Amino acid sequence: MCDKTGTSIPQIGFGTFQIPPEDTQRAVEEALELGYRHIDTAAAYYNEQQVGDALRATGMAGKVWVTTKLRNCDQGYDAARVAFDESRRKLGVDVIDMYLIHWPFPAAGFYRETWRALLKLRDEGAIRVPGVSNFLPEHLRAIIEDSGEAPAVNQIEVHPRFNQPGVRAFCKAHGIAVEAYSPLGHGRDIASEPVTKAAEAHGVTPGQVVLRWHTQEGRIVIPKSKHAERMRENLASAGFDLTAAEIAAIDALDDPHANVSSDPATFTHSQSWADQHVRGNI
Ligand SMILES: NC(=O)c1ccc[n+]([C@@H]2O[C@H](COP(=O)([O-])OP(=O)(O)OC[C@H]3O[C@@H](n4cnc5c(N)ncnc54)[C@H](OP(=O)(O)O)[C@@H]3O)[C@@H](O)[C@H]2O)c1
Repeated sequence: MCDKTGTSIPQIGFGTFQIPPEDTQRAVEEALELGYRHIDTAAAYYNEQQVGDALRATGMAGKVWVTTKLRNCDQGYDAARVAFDESRRKLGVDVIDMYLIHWPFPAAGFYRETWRALLKLRDEGAIRVPGVSNFLPEHLRAIIEDSGEAPAVNQIEVHPRFNQPGVRAFCKAHGIAVEAYSPLGHGRDIASEPVTKAAEAHGVTPGQVVLRWHTQEGRIVIPKSKHAERMRENLASAGFDLTAAEIAAIDALDDPHANVSSDPATFTHSQSWADQHVRGNI
């Protein structure tokens, strides 16, 4: 999978949100052993250190694709640079493959200058691909107008019952690759009828149908599982092709109110440790 700059990003990655810090090193080592070559973390998950420990223990630091993200409370030009260095130290790499602004946090009004900080870090060679997450068209338009440069990647919530056709169309029109987070809808969307029907037709699991629905449409996916069997299953989801009718039937499940995450226009949590702890995310 290549973004618009021609950089190759492994299309199926391993997500680490809500894997407690004490379990993260083992889970990431297991994922790497099973063949994952793309790990997704964030400063707000408070497990970057343990992702780094797994990379160091397996000798994979610098050899696999690692994405991390800037917390809301670190937005701003200077603050973003400080936070970036902290993430780089914890991950134990000189260059971060992909660094994303985690949320636009429009109430703070810093995302334009934060985007400029990421572009500067890219120009300095410290980030391979600067990108964004949870950006709606209005936020994407604002950074494009301000900096003259669209991000290569927008990591957004996409799963069968909440597939964001509007944001995806905007991204497509601007050459922005879509990376689907919560690609399985927290595991809830896999029981939908068009999914189970396609699974039966292709002799695969419902989870594999959902992931193939994403990858066949060109999206990067980062499913998370604590179980080796599911990690293996998710990574092995590319060996068949869905028909156009099967894809259309899954697309048609879209319900604009079926999001499992927050609304980017109003998400204003700081993502500090205390904040994430109170919200039960760590
Ligand atoms: N940028 C953002 O704001 C943002 C927000 C949310 C998530 N993310 C990223 O996206 C990653 C994935 O999202 P997510 O964890 O929210 O949701 P997800 O990957 O859609 O779903 C994970 C859930 O599905 C279950 N599962 C995994 N594989 C399965 C399979 N093959 N069959 C049935 N159930 C399965 C898992 O259970 P077990 O663990 O018990 O197997 C877990 O409960 C995160 O880890 C994080 O890296 C980013």
